[in-house]
Amino acid sequence: MTCKTNEHLEELIASVRHYTQFGKVADYIPALGKVNGQDLSIAIYDVNSGCLYAGDYRKKFTLQSVSKVLSLALVLMDRGKDYVFERVGMEPTGDPFNSISKLESSIPSKPLNPMINAGALAVTDMIIGGSLEERWKRLLTFIKELGNDIEIECNMEVAQSEFETAYLNRALCFFMKQHGIIQGDIEELMDLYTRQCAIEMDCFDLARIGAVFALNGNDPESGKQLIPKEIARICKTFMVTCGMYDASGEFAMKVGIPAKSGVSGGILGVVPGKLGIGIFGPSLDERGNSVAGLKLLEKLANEYDFSIF
Ligand code: DON
Repeated sequence: MTCKTNEHLEELIASVRHYTQFGKVADYIPALGKVNGQDLSIAIYDVNSGCLYAGDYRKKFTLQSVSKVLSLALVLMDRGKDYVFERVGMEPTGDPFNSISKLESSIPSKPLNPMINAGALAVTDMIIGGSLEERWKRLLTFIKELGNDIEIECNMEVAQSEFETAYLNRALCFFMKQHGIIQGDIEELMDLYTRQCAIEMDCFDLARIGAVFALNGNDPESGKQLIPKEIARICKTFMVTCGMYDASGEFAMKVGIPAKSGVSGGILGVVPGKLGIGIFGPSLDERGNSVAGLKLLEKLANEYDFSIF
């Protein structure tokens, strides 16, 4: 599948690019701070008519929290939903993505959902495999398959940089280990989680993966069921209720599609039955969402009536 440039999408990008100046690139993971904050690109994979793009849609970025949807899908397939939801909840938090506060106050003491860091760490801990390398390979192979055998790798500089500085995520892990949510070794989990977050791809690959979710887990080209329908539905539901962190309510109101953001500036969007969307815009607002990416989605949703509500 080739992707064609689109004049109208280019105009839309041009009309929102100035919003990049109102945000900042994430630098709490030092290696993430090296990108150009003015970048903005989009690819839209239409399951019926092919792919359109605007901006430098082949520029690679790390998935960061976008990966949480993909690890969740794999773990639900590995373990089944009863096992997973015994350890991770289904409710939005209204707190920042790395918050520790509700871990202590929730009864039973488990992360409120798999889209916040605590929940995602618990999910990654559940990836099945006999060794760290086997678990990593399984995750990577699954994501490659969702993207139609895409060539993806982990950006080891970003992974290493997060591994060396992730004190808060380690604190979340120690708390959850004490409460029996996390079973495995914490340093091994941090290694796997930071690699997962540092998987690199571009807007086209992300849009292609979005199309699988748009088709309830079916590959848009081969028709093969890559994710069971119910699991694709669960993932999309979390994207709606928790995918944009403590801005998920406002996003549902203004855009109204399942979406997941990451602090690299990536956004995975899904218009059910129709489109997968990949966006890269690393200048972030204070909640960790791409400032210009949000504006771009808002304009598109209004113009083409994307909202599922
Ligand atoms: O765990 C972290 O802090 C990062 N690897 C991912 C966080 C993230 O992308 C949150 N996004 N908005």
